[in-house]
Amino acid sequence: MLDGDQGKAASLAMCILTKIGEIYDADKMVEIGSAHVLGHFGSLHDAGIHVLEKFAGSNGRYKVPTTVDPASMDLEMWREFKTPEAYAEKQLRLCRAHLRMGVIPTWSCTPYLHGNLPRYGEHISWAESSAVVFANSVIGSRTNRETVGLEVAASIAGRTPEFGVHLEENRRGDILVEVKATNLCDIDYNTVGYLVGKTFGNRIPVLTGLPQNTGIDQLKCMGAAMACSGAVAMYHAVGITPEATTLDHAFQGDHYSDRIEIGRTELKNAEEEISTVSGGKIDLVAVGCPHCSFDEMRKLALLLENRKIHRSVEFWIYTSKQVESLARKTCYADIIESSGAKISTQTCAVVSPINTWGFESVMTNAAKFAIVLPSEHKVKVIYKKIEECVEAAVKGKV
Ligand code: F3S
Repeated sequence: MLDGDQGKAASLAMCILTKIGEIYDADKMVEIGSAHVLGHFGSLHDAGIHVLEKFAGSNGRYKVPTTVDPASMDLEMWREFKTPEAYAEKQLRLCRAHLRMGVIPTWSCTPYLHGNLPRYGEHISWAESSAVVFANSVIGSRTNRETVGLEVAASIAGRTPEFGVHLEENRRGDILVEVKATNLCDIDYNTVGYLVGKTFGNRIPVLTGLPQNTGIDQLKCMGAAMACSGAVAMYHAVGITPEATTLDHAFQGDHYSDRIEIGRTELKNAEEEISTVSGGKIDLVAVGCPHCSFDEMRKLALLLENRKIHRSVEFWIYTSKQVESLARKTCYADIIESSGAKISTQTCAVVSPINTWGFESVMTNAAKFAIVLPSEHKVKVIYKKIEECVEAAVKGKV
C-alpha cells in the first residue's frame, strides 16, 4: 500500500501512518473496525479543506465504516442561523470531500448512537475527544485521541499504528477518584468530569462511588467534560465500565499513584468556578453537548411544556438529524418548538460561528460548552442545572 499498489490516496495515508507509528515506537499496524472523522470547517480551516480534497481528488475511499463529527453549521437551516455565505461554501466543500470518500453523513459527536457501535476490544480510529473517551471507557473498544487527518488516513488504509491505549498495558488505571457525593443529578456528572480532567490531565482515572444505575447519557457527559478540561482518553468506573469489574481489575493488579475525593462541597465550588459570571442577562441558552440523545430530548420537552422562552433569549438544542427526526415523529419536537426553543441539527455552538448573532452571555448545563465557549467565542458563561437554564430562559435573566 505504501508503495502505491492500491493507489495514490492509500499510499499517502500509509506514509502518514508509518511516520506516526515510527514516532511512537509502534511495533506494527492493527486493522480497524471503524473510523469517526472530523468535518467542521471551524476547526479544520483552509488547510483541512486542502488535505481532504487532496485525498478525495486522488480517489481516496474510506475502507471501514466511517461516521463524521458535527459540521460548522446546521446543514439545512444554515441561513436561518445567520451563517455567512462564504463560510458556508467552505463547509460545503468539506462535506463534499467527505461524501466523495464514502462517509456515513451522521454529522454528530455521538456516533455510537447512530450506527457506529464498535465491539468490546475492537481497534478503531476516532477523532472527537468526547466520542473517544466514550468508546474506550464505556464500550471497551480501543482508539487513541486521533489528531485531525490521522483518522482520515487510518480509514483510507483500514489500519492504524498500535501504540497508546491500543495496547492492554496502557489501559491500566492510574488515579483513584472516590466520589463521595450522593444523589448525583445530571450536572454533577459533568462537574465530576471537569474536576477529574482539570486535576489529572491525560492520566487514566478509576472512579468509585458512582451509582450502579448511572446512565449512558451521564457517562457520555462526564467523559466529554474530562476529555475537555484535561486530555483524558479513557476512564474506568468500578462496577460500571467493562474493564473495571473490580478495583483490582481497573488497576490491572497494580497500585494507584494519586487519589482525590469528590464530595458535595467540591462539586459546588467547581460549578461556581466553571461559570465566568454568576448572573445577569442571558442571550443564549445552549443545550446538547455532546449531542442530545432521544431521552434527553424527551426530558427537555417535558421541562419546556407550556413554557414560553423570553423574547430576548435564544434557546438552542443541539442534536443529530436522526434524533430530531424521531422527536418529530413523536410530540416532543412540537412541544419544544411551541415554547420558542429551536432544534439545531448536525452542528453545535462551539464549532459554528455563533458570533454572527452578537451574543455576549451564554447559559448551559454542559461542562464542555461552558469550558470551551468563553475562549472560542469570547462570551460570558453561566453553568447551571437544566431546570435553572429553563427558568432563566423564561425570565430572560438569572
Ligand atoms: Fe459535540 Fe460540539 Fe460538544 S461537537 S461534544 S456538541 S462541543
